[in-house]
Amino acid sequence: MQAILLVGGFGTRLRPLTLTTPKQMLPVLDRPMLEYAVSGLAGHGVDRVVLALGYHDAAFRAAYPGGRCAGVELCCVVEPEPLDTAGAIRFAYEASGMGDSPGTFLVANGDVITDLDVGEMLHLHRSAGAEATIHLIEVDDPSRYGVVVTDRDGRVREFVEKPQPPAPSNWINAGTYLMDPAVIGRIDGGRRVSVEREVFPTMVEDRTLWALCHNTYWLDVGTPKAYLQAQLDLLDGRRGPAVAGVSAEASVDAGALIERSVVMAGAVVGEGSVVRGSAVHEGAVIEAGATVLDSVVGSGATVGRGARVTDGTLIGERFEVAPGTALSDARVPQGV
Ligand code: GDD
Ligand code: MG
Repeated sequence: MQAILLVGGFGTRLRPLTLTTPKQMLPVLDRPMLEYAVSGLAGHGVDRVVLALGYHDAAFRAAYPGGRCAGVELCCVVEPEPLDTAGAIRFAYEASGMGDSPGTFLVANGDVITDLDVGEMLHLHRSAGAEATIHLIEVDDPSRYGVVVTDRDGRVREFVEKPQPPAPSNWINAGTYLMDPAVIGRIDGGRRVSVEREVFPTMVEDRTLWALCHNTYWLDVGTPKAYLQAQLDLLDGRRGPAVAGVSAEASVDAGALIERSVVMAGAVVGEGSVVRGSAVHEGAVIEAGATVLDSVVGSGATVGRGARVTDGTLIGERFEVAPGTALSDARVPQGV
């Protein structure tokens, strides 16, 4: 099966990290976020992935010059301008020649990490004779997602993107779809079209949209909190055996305290510093006596002596936090 991964968004909620690196190329533990999505699909019979690119497309090409990722053939297509989710699907479908071997294909939001069983979804898609089938997950707060109401048999009755409360259901669009080529015919070419706001609602009216409710490991890594969560879940063993967070190629002083954190290759953590619940990217430096709590230190950035970086702070690539500074829930450089 072929898949389209939507990876052309601006990643605004993860600025300033995404000013220099597109969201799906940000590291999660020891590899880009993208590789978790691709290897998840590869494990379920996907053998060709089309990356629907836009913002910072060169970063993807540079990372996979051989056109392969996690054992799968990668095809890169770049929209001339952002076409939104459905526009991107149509553009990727046509530009990559997917129509040459028509059949059901998969589409996924590139910032979703999940253990979804695509085979189960395909079974429902085929037995229902669906035009498209979407994966749903149950969450406590559905307001920042696409909210979906289904019949008992799985046919979608309502799809509302980011509704005002109260939401009609706690089941949300988890961002993985199976689609038949007929869906492409619903999408106008050459303009922005949202799959969530335009295409799915018309399919609901035509009664051709189905959904698989399946609570499995799932995370949309689009916010600072979720980006840290993705890494801590690996350390905590929430996705298979727990893994170590401190790279063998990092340099950590014996007098530093590192708890439940990721410290990537080439990072340096100095004496008396404390790093907890955080991610320290490649080549970042945490100087002596500094404290980093629940925050992300971008690659090559420096947290100066005695500085305190806490509560969801994001420090951009190569930024230098002056010694003694206190940052809480901050984005630096500022104004981004
Ligand atoms: N190629 C391309 N072009 N990709 C795009 C564009 C575009 O114009 N706009 C967004 N994307 C990509 C993003 O990079 C991301 O991987 C994916 O499409 C979804 O965009 P987000 O910006 O992450 O959307 P969201 O998280 O607010 O909401 C979406 O995901 C939720 C689940 O994670 C929606 O699909 C919701 O309905 C869903 O519940
Ligand atoms: Mg998202």
